[in-house]
Amino acid sequence: MSFHYLFFLFFFILAFFPFCFAQNGSIPCPLNFTVLRPAFSNRPPQLNPSADCHFIVQGLRLVLSDYLKRTGSFVPPSNASESCWQSYQSLLPNLDIRSSCGFQTAWISQGCMNLTTRADFEASVPTTTLNDVASNCNQSLGGSACASCTRSLASLQVLYNTNNSVANVSDCTAYPFIYAAAVPNYLGPTDEATAICLFSIELNDSSNGEGKKKGVNWGVIIGVGVGLAVFIVLSWFFYRKHRDSRKKIRNLELGGLGMISESSNLVKFTFDEIKEATRNFSIDNIIGRGGYGNVYRGYLSDGSEVALKRFKNCSAAGDADFKHEVEVIASVRHVNLVALRGYCTATTPFEGHQRIIVCDLMKNGSLYDHLFGPTKARLSWSIRRKIALGMARGLAYLHHGAQPTIIHRDIKASNILLDDMFEAKVADFGLAKFTPEGMTHLSTRVAGTMGYVAPEYALYGQLTDRSDVYSFGIVLLELLSGKKALTVSNGNQPSVVADWAWSLVKKEKALDVIEDGMPELGPPEVVEKYVLIAVLCSHPELQCRPSMDQVVKMLETEVSVPSIPARPIPLVAHIDDICRANSAGCSY
Ligand SMILES: *[C@@H]1O[C@H](CO)[C@@H](O)[C@H](O)[C@H]1NC(C)=O
Ligand SMILES: *[C@@H]1O[C@H](CO)[C@@H](O)[C@H](O)[C@H]1NC(C)=O
Ligand SMILES: *[C@@H]1O[C@H](CO)[C@@H](O)[C@H](O)[C@H]1NC(C)=O
Ligand SMILES: *[C@@H]1O[C@H](CO)[C@@H](O)[C@H](O)[C@H]1NC(C)=O
Ligand SMILES: *[C@@H]1O[C@H](CO)[C@@H](O)[C@H](O)[C@H]1NC(C)=O
Ligand SMILES: *[C@@H]1O[C@H](CO)[C@@H](O)[C@H](O)[C@H]1NC(C)=O
Ligand SMILES: *[C@@H]1O[C@H](CO)[C@@H](O)[C@H](O)[C@H]1NC(C)=O
Ligand SMILES: *[C@@H]1O[C@H](CO)[C@@H](O)[C@H](O)[C@H]1NC(C)=O
Repeated sequence: MSFHYLFFLFFFILAFFPFCFAQNGSIPCPLNFTVLRPAFSNRPPQLNPSADCHFIVQGLRLVLSDYLKRTGSFVPPSNASESCWQSYQSLLPNLDIRSSCGFQTAWISQGCMNLTTRADFEASVPTTTLNDVASNCNQSLGGSACASCTRSLASLQVLYNTNNSVANVSDCTAYPFIYAAAVPNYLGPTDEATAICLFSIELNDSSNGEGKKKGVNWGVIIGVGVGLAVFIVLSWFFYRKHRDSRKKIRNLELGGLGMISESSNLVKFTFDEIKEATRNFSIDNIIGRGGYGNVYRGYLSDGSEVALKRFKNCSAAGDADFKHEVEVIASVRHVNLVALRGYCTATTPFEGHQRIIVCDLMKNGSLYDHLFGPTKARLSWSIRRKIALGMARGLAYLHHGAQPTIIHRDIKASNILLDDMFEAKVADFGLAKFTPEGMTHLSTRVAGTMGYVAPEYALYGQLTDRSDVYSFGIVLLELLSGKKALTVSNGNQPSVVADWAWSLVKKEKALDVIEDGMPELGPPEVVEKYVLIAVLCSHPELQCRPSMDQVVKMLETEVSVPSIPARPIPLVAHIDDICRANSAGCSY
């Protein structure tokens, strides 16, 4: 009996504790992955591999930096590499890190060239550069301090062969950052500001609404929102006064450029790499066309699939601005925003000047494709609801979470992309200004798309976060009704979805807005609430629209929708509308 019993016990243990046996001859991992726990708990459980490998690499760099601080070594010994991957894996149970991202086990303990210790590294670079780094990076790295630290790191970085531009767990590119956080910076890599500045990782609870513990003070939000709007409007008028009236409008919403860190993880691709990724811009790889240029599908050398947007009619003159904007955009990260991987600028003999940005590819295309494209399958209510929430959270982050505030300016169904789980990702934020002159249907100053642009922005060029709220309201109406923002049929008056929806809401027939035959429709009170929110957001008077934070709150909690103030005469009015229109003010 005892023999059989022991046998049974042996297999029992083997079956239930495979990890005890998997680490054949390897040592426990000396890296402390616990420091990343808060960063990962802020993220949804189901990660999208292509979007998140980059984040995983950044997290690893942070952990390596913590290791360097504690032990003076950049990488763990090679006999710990297996156990270190397993420790990292325990943070992300739903994703096999190595197979999803194509990382080899050995990479985790392969340093840059043969530099493994702090002393090796310091001996390999000039003392003056090190002193420069020490003086710029030994402070709390919030705000402008971050930029001065990363600037001094840039000069350190050029001393290395940064040939492997693709995210690599053992690349030389990251050494200066790993070093700066571990050695000169007295707060260390686990400090919130250091982690954000050098690794783009938020260790603290992020402010993306859902995970917030404390209730949000409504008054404060309105106060801040109104204050922000007033500030933006005032500064805009100030700015207008001072600018040369002939020059086109500068990027007001990115006004505080000095405070932006030079992003540490943005890849500058060579034109050859881009050509290789897109098979020399093959027609077969085109997945989208627009006034600005084409969008291509491509594969990077690490095997990840990306979308590449190639801008038309560029001149080298704007490159410095472009690079700066791209860095700002890359530093803004949120589950509901499309992540920018890198960019490329180059001048070629035949094709002229080139500007390309590289983003994660979204498998499910755009919301426009699903609502108005040839595909016949109708989105179910629960998917539409998820998309609505995702869009709202992404925009709320641009307005209230990003530093500085970013106004999108061109929200429309084709800019809402969907990943393989139908998580909505807002695309192209901050890029509307790179639309070539004359490509918009409106004046050259206004960037935006007909049907989605808020009236005050279209008419007076007045740009605030509430202009985005208007466009959001229009997209939400499209999502709920399956009708386009603007339908122009021969000879007839154009039909504006916002006016149509308001006319139904006024008649207390809000549910008639919903597209016929939408599968698995939700409870009527919830569906109606979404319609009311959409109509409120697309109110023609900006002071009547809620802020995006308020919208998220209304969508995801029991908070009710305030009564919708009557609208002034619609821009496209029928005569009986004009007669009936009353002019009640907006009361909140
Ligand atoms: C440990 O096991 C893996 C397979 O699980 C094998 O590839 C590796 O060579 C083993 N290493 C040692 C040191 O035995
Ligand atoms: C790992 O990091 C966590 C969080 O910073 C800390 O509480 C813990 O003591 C660390 N563990 C080791 C072994 O250093
Ligand atoms: C692991 O490697 C380190 C250095 O490479 C060595 O000092 C240590 O003895 C090794 N441990 C085992 C268990 O092989
Ligand atoms: C690294 O290797 C090179 C030769 O490949 C050698 O010249 C250099 O001294 C080594 N550096 C260190 C710090 O060991
Ligand atoms: C990058 O690597 C290629 C070969 O892999 C080499 O020809 C080229 O000189 C390298 N560039 C730099 C800057 O080291
Ligand atoms: C990553 O780094 C390792 C070691 O330096 C190298 O062998 C590998 O080719 C790199 N991978 C990529 C995708 O650059
Ligand atoms: C960094 O600053 C702290 C205090 O501000 C100081 O104690 C430390 O010596 C400084 N470290 C370096 C490397 O300059
Ligand atoms: C999070 O941030 C707050 C202030 O924003 C700070 O007081 C707190 O210590 C931070 N917590 C962690 C774990 O970094």
